[in-house]
Amino acid sequence: MTLAEPRTHAIVPNDLEPYWMPFTANRAFKKSPRLLVRAKDMHYYAADGRKLIDGIAGMWCCNAGHARDPIVAAIQEQAAELDYATAFQFAHPKAFELASRIAQLAPGDLDHVFFANSGSEAVDTALKIALAYHNVRGEGSRVRLIGRERAYHGAGFGGTAVGGIVPNRKMFGALFAGVDHLPHTYNREQQAFTKGEPEWGGHLADELERLVGLHDASTIAAVIVEPMAGSTGVLPAPKGYLQKLRAICDKYGILLIFDEVITGFGRLGCAFGAERYGVVPDMITFAKGVTSGTVPMGGVIVRKHIYDAFMRGPEHVVELFHGYTYSAHPLACAAGLATLGVYREEKLFERAAALEPTFADAAMSLKGLPNVLDVRTVGLAAGIDLAPSPDGIGKRGFAAMEQGFYKEDAIIRCSGDTIALTPPLIVSAAEIEDIFARVARVIRAVA
Ligand SMILES: Cc1ncc(COP(=O)(O)O)c(C=O)c1O
Repeated sequence: MTLAEPRTHAIVPNDLEPYWMPFTANRAFKKSPRLLVRAKDMHYYAADGRKLIDGIAGMWCCNAGHARDPIVAAIQEQAAELDYATAFQFAHPKAFELASRIAQLAPGDLDHVFFANSGSEAVDTALKIALAYHNVRGEGSRVRLIGRERAYHGAGFGGTAVGGIVPNRKMFGALFAGVDHLPHTYNREQQAFTKGEPEWGGHLADELERLVGLHDASTIAAVIVEPMAGSTGVLPAPKGYLQKLRAICDKYGILLIFDEVITGFGRLGCAFGAERYGVVPDMITFAKGVTSGTVPMGGVIVRKHIYDAFMRGPEHVVELFHGYTYSAHPLACAAGLATLGVYREEKLFERAAALEPTFADAAMSLKGLPNVLDVRTVGLAAGIDLAPSPDGIGKRGFAAMEQGFYKEDAIIRCSGDTIALTPPLIVSAAEIEDIFARVARVIRAVA
């Protein structure tokens, strides 16, 4: 074979080797692949024809369920009408329409939307806007960013730096200078088996005062937190915590960013977690649920004063040197508009709120099963901590995910030894019972 000859074996569809899978145990997967080939509403279909219940809304994203007709039609029509339009110096109408619709859903004066293509890009965009905002206002000394232990803010360099999940960070060098972290809010002794926001832990927001004392407010640009830390295993904000963070940020002129990539679009029974907690952050990042996972999209909603701060200088000059080729992609905008239509017509956010007690009760029924150390719930999200197996951290969690797929026809997510359950918001009460019954059998099987 000459160098120029194509290596045709690499494009044979059943060759599993060339695809380096993200956040996946590649070798284990390729020995025993879990292939999903079709999805509809609450279910996936595996390559062997089995119908599996989706316990995790794809990956916290398919809030309207799978392959919903209005969303599918909108994407198909958009692809035929306008496949792509540059977002730099040109635009297409649906970008404005979607920005307006998202701004209407956001609380307070969060009324301008910057589009990206993923949660990671949304987070990096928000961090860059925070730094640039202080810069344009003549406070360029505010360069520090504060994240939180156990946080997940995506896989970009900025998001990784403010994130706080150790394996996601430790291989990647010094990351981003000038980042500090608040402590995480989880304490099993104080909070185990709590439904909703724990009573204990609101005081941990005061740690921000300590960081201000250490670094001085004049060096701090922004604080970023998830209203409910999802990827680390569902840690709801303790009572009063987010309100206190808001007050401290106000006191020192620090921007508060809520990363609502998971909590946005109904997961907590409201359009955004900000609404549930009655706190208006300066920016909200979103992704996932905005298109119900159908077409990649993310973005940042900013308060009016942030947008206005940039609207100065000669009018022909670009105000923010940031953006992506696919910002406000026509397919994503069409999918987003159709998705928001489904959420509104089917009242899915209200549905999530109404189902929260049923979901929490079903989750708590797992208490007492072998190895269950804690169950946490908020909205339609549950985290179930299992005791690690003596063979190694993460082994029991991995076995649970496999057991779910092969034996219980259920897609569940495990990070380490924590099972996370976050079904589409169209889930019925009977399906909630069914999912937790399957998970109970999984937990027994991996004991
Ligand atoms: C809170 C949060 N921020 C950011 C991200 C990154 O999103 P993406 O995977 O779309 O880049 C995630 C993904 O789960 C997330 O949970």
